[in-house]
Amino acid sequence: MEQEILSLRQELIAAIEGADTVAALETVRVSALGKNGRITALMKTLGALTPQERKTAGQALNTFKTDIAAFLDEKKATLETRELNARLHAESVDVTLPIRPQNTPGRIHPVTQVTEEMLTIFAQMGFDVAEGPDIEDDYHNFEALNIPASHPARQMQATFFLKDQPDKMLRTQTSGVQIRTMENKKPPIKIVAPGRTYRRDYDMTHTPMFHQIEGLVIDKKTTLAHLKGTLIEFMKLFFETNDVALRFRPSYFPFTEPSFEADVGCSRENGEFKIKSGAGWCELLGCGMVHPNVLRTCGLDPDEYQGFAFGCGIDRFAMLKYGIPDLRSFFDADMRWIRHYGFLPTDVPTLINGLSQTAGAKR
Ligand code: DAH
Repeated sequence: MEQEILSLRQELIAAIEGADTVAALETVRVSALGKNGRITALMKTLGALTPQERKTAGQALNTFKTDIAAFLDEKKATLETRELNARLHAESVDVTLPIRPQNTPGRIHPVTQVTEEMLTIFAQMGFDVAEGPDIEDDYHNFEALNIPASHPARQMQATFFLKDQPDKMLRTQTSGVQIRTMENKKPPIKIVAPGRTYRRDYDMTHTPMFHQIEGLVIDKKTTLAHLKGTLIEFMKLFFETNDVALRFRPSYFPFTEPSFEADVGCSRENGEFKIKSGAGWCELLGCGMVHPNVLRTCGLDPDEYQGFAFGCGIDRFAMLKYGIPDLRSFFDADMRWIRHYGFLPTDVPTLINGLSQTAGAKR
């Protein structure tokens, strides 16, 4: 028996050392310790020995068996580590390598890009970004904005109400975020609030879902001059030209007094739209000084605080800046359209590099 163990030991150790995969090692294990394995077979011969012989042989066999099991485990761990390392190496991706945007089909939607452009500008001017819910209640969408139930302004906005909750609706404007902001924060307030808005409308320049950005500045001495300065500076940076003229026409919004619509100087020569002064005018946004009723509703004393607000369509700014003719096409999810009008993921707008400098060239 002793001799048999010794030669089998050498044989098995050589086999274990020679196994170069986990699968090959498993074959060795089964051939030694499996149900029909060599060591198992030796164990079975113990029965035929005398009790004295069985004792010594049994002990020797057990030690042998434990040793081989330990060798197997040790080798298995080594092989597994090696195989894992090889796999990690083969499947590794160097995330620090630059991407090849030309080869990736994904594009950033113009609405996303333009929203980023706008936020980049406002952030640099010191505005915080605020958000509100798409499903809004009557109070924030209308009531607190000085639009009571009987007010004709409610008819101006064809609202999607929720079926089972008559008080809830898809917000028709981002102006409700003004209320939510003033409810939660004391002045000075300086926020912009981009987001989706919804109205029952559908033609070349209207879709049931569209995007607005709202601005709100409240402090003790904020005036119409600040509103005008902010908007002019914004237009220059956004349209990337200094030749910007703004015109304020008296208008009406229930939540501002006085209210204005702002137009920007533009030309349409040879079908090409251009921001420039001295030619025509293009309607851009609504704005005004926040109505005392709105301030009062939000717990602010209009004799102490005042400020301005503005709101405009992000999609409209995208159409103007990038010459996109039909708003409906924005939301068709047509790959050809997004490849043509979309932006490369690397075209992150920054004021230093120029908001659309790289975008236009590589699109
Ligand atoms: N909420 C208005 C709309 O959807 C736009 C607007 C006008 C927002 C004047 C304002 C504002 O903040 O002061 O038509």
